Amino acid sequence: MQIIEVHTKSRPSTVYCGEGAYARAEEFLRDKDTFIVTDTNVYRLYGEKLRADFPSARICVVKAGERHKNKATLFQILDEMLQAQLHRNSVVAAVGGGVVGDMAGFAASVYMRGTRLVQIPTTLLSQVDSSVGGKTAIDYGGVKNVLGAFYQPEYVFCDPVFLQTLPPREIKCGWGEIIKTGVLDAKIGDRILENASRLYDLQFMKEIVADCIRFKANVVEQDETEKSGVRKCLNLGHTTGHALELKYGRRSHGEYVLIGMWLESVIAEREGVCTAEYAARVRELIALAQKRIPAFADARSVVKYALLDKKNSEKGIVDMILPKARGEYAEYRLSAEKYAQYLTLLQERQA
Ligand SMILES: NC(=O)c1ccc[n+]([C@@H]2O[C@H](COP(=O)([O-])OP(=O)(O)OC[C@H]3O[C@@H](n4cnc5c(N)ncnc54)[C@H](O)[C@@H]3O)[C@@H](O)[C@H]2O)c1
Ligand SMILES: [Zn+2]
Repeated sequence: MQIIEVHTKSRPSTVYCGEGAYARAEEFLRDKDTFIVTDTNVYRLYGEKLRADFPSARICVVKAGERHKNKATLFQILDEMLQAQLHRNSVVAAVGGGVVGDMAGFAASVYMRGTRLVQIPTTLLSQVDSSVGGKTAIDYGGVKNVLGAFYQPEYVFCDPVFLQTLPPREIKCGWGEIIKTGVLDAKIGDRILENASRLYDLQFMKEIVADCIRFKANVVEQDETEKSGVRKCLNLGHTTGHALELKYGRRSHGEYVLIGMWLESVIAEREGVCTAEYAARVRELIALAQKRIPAFADARSVVKYALLDKKNSEKGIVDMILPKARGEYAEYRLSAEKYAQYLTLLQERQA
């Protein structure tokens, strides 16, 4: 098991990563007033185990899925926290994927202006990405993650045992964020390409999870609240990814990120931000998880969702992070008109 310290200013986090991490969670929570938040799917698979391992904990079960990452579910969690008479020293433990982690984290950040929080991520995506770094949120008013807070967990217990029950769709979803990390970090990218045939191999997933967490921890330490700009790099593929997710919403978050990165690699190449060779490397990485880029009806209209993106700094302009060279990225701005033209590539294309 690896121990990764995240030295953030607001509150440092410790990540236990690998086999035995869940046992550490049991140890830590044993003598605490614990409030577990999980979703219906995770509860179906692990509810009995959670009840046995944390006999005195209260368990709040929310409906699974991104469409429930909303105000109603947030207030369900807060209501149950209040009914359970949690105090500031109680510990909220998010046991689930990124949806549970983001909502439980947000609830923990506002309840009594902040209760203690630990993350026990159970999806590949939440292990490599969302459980680390302290971003918490719900979707609201048709905008993803628009209400939220930066709120660091004290601990993240990231155990591969949970990955064994993940359906392939969710593993692919995690690979969306891992490949994003591989585009941002050349060594991780090389490692993924060298192990191209092992993407669904548990051993390889275990290794790459720790690499991705280390990468993210380093970024978050430099720019915890996305002020200096360093943290913005994590949005690679997300301008288009989030906009597609909002309009179509049928595929997983990670898959939309892969498709978003594909389009943004084309934009980077055509706008002269990166060379054709480098764009080809990015697409080679993407193709490991996303063999075919699907066609979307009326993709051009997705521009209106991109214009709502939190990263934008000016009306009518879409801000995005583009791949530039090995381990380098660029902040880039396109007019809505030009971006809409690029979006038509997703309309016509059948890769
Ligand atoms: N906070 C951040 O920094 C950050 C970063 C990236 C993504 N996110 C957010 O994370 C969310 C996506 O997270 P996700 O992909 O984990 O989605 P998710 O939480 O919806 O989980 C995906 C599905 O897998 C199920 N599941 C969870 N663990 C399982 C297990 N061990 N075995 C079987 N099924 C399991 C869930 O019930 C759900 O149906 C998005 O809302 C995104 O915005 C946040
Ligand atoms: Zn993401």
